[in-house]
Amino acid sequence: MTDPNRDIAPALSVRDLRKTYDNKVEALKGVSLDVAPGDFFALLGPNGAGKSTLIGIVSSLVNLSAGSVQVFGTDLRTDRGAAMRMIGLVPQELNFNMFEKPLDILVNYAGFYGVPREEALQRAEVELKRAQLWEKATLMSRTLSGGMKRRLMIARAMMTRPRLLILDEPTAGVDIEIRRGMWKTLKEINAAGTTIILTTHYLEEAESLCRNLAIIDRGHIVEQGPMKALLAKLDVEGFLFDIDGHLPAQLPAIEGTTLLAEDDHTLDVEMPRAMDLNRVFAALGDAGIRVRSMRTKSNRLEELFVRLTGDNAPGQAAAQPEKAA
Ligand SMILES: Nc1ncnc2c1ncn2[C@@H]1O[C@H](COP(=O)(O)OP(=O)(O)OP(=O)(O)O)[C@@H](O)[C@H]1O
Ligand SMILES: [Mg+2]
Repeated sequence: MTDPNRDIAPALSVRDLRKTYDNKVEALKGVSLDVAPGDFFALLGPNGAGKSTLIGIVSSLVNLSAGSVQVFGTDLRTDRGAAMRMIGLVPQELNFNMFEKPLDILVNYAGFYGVPREEALQRAEVELKRAQLWEKATLMSRTLSGGMKRRLMIARAMMTRPRLLILDEPTAGVDIEIRRGMWKTLKEINAAGTTIILTTHYLEEAESLCRNLAIIDRGHIVEQGPMKALLAKLDVEGFLFDIDGHLPAQLPAIEGTTLLAEDDHTLDVEMPRAMDLNRVFAALGDAGIRVRSMRTKSNRLEELFVRLTGDNAPGQAAAQPEKAA
């Protein structure tokens, strides 16, 4: 009963997905999205948006309330086992046995999925080397650093050679250098043909890795499409000008810009990216407004994010990455 559309089917197809938890929380309120085979797809959203719920449903850890999910054309409801075998999951929380060795964790995991031991040992060597953990292969996992533990989770997920790799905040709490190393690994995995879906709070990460994205907020998709197209929409730039003295009650009209008094001596300016700032300064000068200093408001993706989801910008987390425990 192989679906004839299987080879051209999306890696992931989600239709009108709903989830209400037992405590009546409606985590997903009708989510639809498609992820193309070979894509590198970002799922963004503030805390509690429903990202992990969505990932949990796709990877069969959470039961859906309504809607449908297909993985490479295989329906989750009718053929859960087959769908699961195509997915590798890196969950948000570390969930391996800290008292096992990385090599055993990988080999046992593959064994659970029916990979013969010889084959599993070979794969484990490849994956541990790629994760730069080969020297740590037989140490107690508890002794690995936070970044190493995160990489071990990715290596484990790759043991079944998944066609779709799903990572739920794989780099949370990892410092920037190690995060970049993980980006390189993920790019390699994607270049070798594995479709990747990742959630992240680091917008910079989504911008540098992903071709397509969806932004989810309070259980709804609020924006989706190619990263480039979304960023191109943002040809508006925002600045805050600090003003010498006080702003006049009546702000001047400068064509193409939107001016807003933040307070008595701070001017919020939105203008097209292509516009010459000097023209704005000159027009303000004519109105007797002298700009003492200026700041850019935020980075582009962050700007889009804030615009779509309100104040819960994850970009703030990006400013001060915490070190993993
Ligand atoms: N097992 C559960 N039982 C009840 N409610 C839950 C459960 N898991 C999640 N929720 C609720 O569902 C909503 C969505 O949570 P979810 O974990 O999917 O969000 P998220 O986007 O992954 O957030 P974060 O960025 O913080 O990881 C939240 O209101 C959360 O409290
Ligand atoms: Mg989550």
